[in-house]
Amino acid sequence: MNKFIAIVGSNSKKSTNREFLQYMQSHFQNQAEIELVEIKDLPLYKKSADKYVPELALDIAKRIEAADGVIIATPEYDHSIPAALSSALAWLSYGIHPFVDKPVMITGASYGSLGSSRAQAQLRQILDSPEIKARIMPSSEFLLGHSLQAFDENGDLKDKQLITQLDGLFKDFLQFVNISKQLNNANVVNKQKAAEFSWDKD
Ligand SMILES: Cc1cc2nc3c(=O)[nH]c(=O)nc-3n(C[C@H](O)[C@H](O)[C@H](O)COP(=O)(O)O)c2cc1C
Repeated sequence: MNKFIAIVGSNSKKSTNREFLQYMQSHFQNQAEIELVEIKDLPLYKKSADKYVPELALDIAKRIEAADGVIIATPEYDHSIPAALSSALAWLSYGIHPFVDKPVMITGASYGSLGSSRAQAQLRQILDSPEIKARIMPSSEFLLGHSLQAFDENGDLKDKQLITQLDGLFKDFLQFVNISKQLNNANVVNKQKAAEFSWDKD
């Protein structure tokens, strides 16, 4: 069974994005093992002369390395991903490169009707940067709009059409992960290039 890391893109105590990933964890329990990862205890990213990376970021990186794929659920603040998620991704690309060629499924929930669509588009761009270089599943937006009203008292999604869409996208993700495992011939060089990449060089 594939093992996935699901990154909660919020540092809030109460988050519909966390609720959504918990729903995925239980809804897909017979298809994949999904482990939720929190970013809320990471410090704000900053550069340092010795390129220090906090233990917690190193631990998350190890878990990503060991996983078959990553699911990210992003909130949307002022049409962008939360500062906490941006900061976490900066740590996870600072001298460490766990995302290189790693299959990623982008999802997100928001209180408005657009379901964090702008944040998701931005996240796609960030994950394509030279130090991250994730393998993002194409043509696969999953937008959970009006997320405060989206779950019933058991934490299940109420909208049946949305569940059908999610089921289809998750099935696609499982296929995408399997195909990705066969498309890994450049991985060693890709990792090397990510490691060698530096914004400080001329
Ligand atoms: C400062 C601030 C900015 C927000 N900006 C947006 C936004 O641009 N789009 C949106 O749909 N919701 C916005 N929201 C509402 C929710 O925070 C947002 O929908 C979020 O994705 C909910 O995710 P969560 O339940 O995981 O916290 C904003 C809220 C705050 C406090």
